[in-house]
Amino acid sequence: MSKPDCIVLVVAAGQGERFGGSRPKQYLELAGEPVLRRAIRPFLAHPAIAGIRVVIAPGQEELYREATAGLPLLPPVEGGATRQASVLAGLESLTGQAPARVLVHDAARPLVTGALIDRVLAGLDDADAVLPALPVVDSLRSVEGGVVTGEVARDRLVRAQTPQGFRFETVLAAHRRHAGAGGITDDVELVRRSGGKVAWVRGEEENLKVTHPDDLVLAARLLGGGQRRYATGLGFDIHAVAADRPLWLGGVQVPAPFGLAGHSDADVVLHALTDALLGTVGAGDIGVHFPPSDERWRGAASDQFVRHALALVAEQGGRLEHADLSIMAERPKIGPHRQSILASLGQILGLEPRRIGLKAGTMEGLGAVGRQEGIAAQAVVTVSFPS
Ligand code: CTP
Ligand code: MG
Repeated sequence: MSKPDCIVLVVAAGQGERFGGSRPKQYLELAGEPVLRRAIRPFLAHPAIAGIRVVIAPGQEELYREATAGLPLLPPVEGGATRQASVLAGLESLTGQAPARVLVHDAARPLVTGALIDRVLAGLDDADAVLPALPVVDSLRSVEGGVVTGEVARDRLVRAQTPQGFRFETVLAAHRRHAGAGGITDDVELVRRSGGKVAWVRGEEENLKVTHPDDLVLAARLLGGGQRRYATGLGFDIHAVAADRPLWLGGVQVPAPFGLAGHSDADVVLHALTDALLGTVGAGDIGVHFPPSDERWRGAASDQFVRHALALVAEQGGRLEHADLSIMAERPKIGPHRQSILASLGQILGLEPRRIGLKAGTMEGLGAVGRQEGIAAQAVVTVSFPS
């Protein structure tokens, strides 16, 4: 290979909406290192690469600095509202340098390898653009709602990955021509629409894009050989009986002549569960995240508290393994509602029923709950993390 003439743009200006949580996925830890840092390192180690520039979202400079501390990178530039706009911003920032070739890589693909970079660069020798991609092995079907409506031939389809490789002038011209077109999800497609020759080379199964929390768990497993660390979280909650409110337990409205007092829907089961989950990541308690003084949570359905706690767990690569719950109530009888509460918990937690314990009992007339002044719940959760 001749002198290094290739610049890499790593696009990291997305918000990770499908992933959820409070921090964009590219800044989450993966086996002890931020996703973005892992997405950059193989390029730093590659001899054909002359420089790497990351495209970041406005306001995320601090996250970027932390994640890339000590790496020899070109100064970052600000991205746009779509991936296409972010790539264009990156390309425009390179016009002074005008490298011969450019690679565009998703920050959300942390398992890229030197071998894949080699294949993409080699493909550029006789094409304007190169797409790393994988053939589709599963059969494809079209569906509408819950119904299968037909078959789709898979032999001419591939799954697109990054890094995609380009002759710089070609991709810059294609991007400028289609600026603001919207809805075009990658850069080889822009070159193709502009009449350029786009070749494809074999991608890698492990070069996954972190899109949903499960992908981060899978990536950690691929990196860490399956070693996990376990944490146990404990939660307790009690609410006073209130005559004029519905009774919510575990996300189910249970028929009763009374409900529970509280700022939100006062679902003690989901509150205990939220605290237990927060406990596994040292994230304080439910009151810190959803203060009763905040009007937003008045009458709120408590499953969103649980989902928030789950997202915080997922951010650290955590996976909920098991939940065990106990409800303490003199009335109403929980037995008849046990199955529907279990189903609701399974749905909220994404757990199969054999991984959820649910018990209910009275306090034998003892104490506040025994006097029917309130209902209480306890939760214990087990979460595994990459070690
Ligand atoms: N990206 C970007 N600028 C945008 C949108 C996306 O730089 N306006 C980047 C993302 O940071 C990511 C890559 O493009 O590295 C692939 O996009 P995707 O996986 O869709 O990430 P997000 O857009 O962040 O996620 P989501 O679509 O779930 O919000
Ligand atoms: Mg996106």
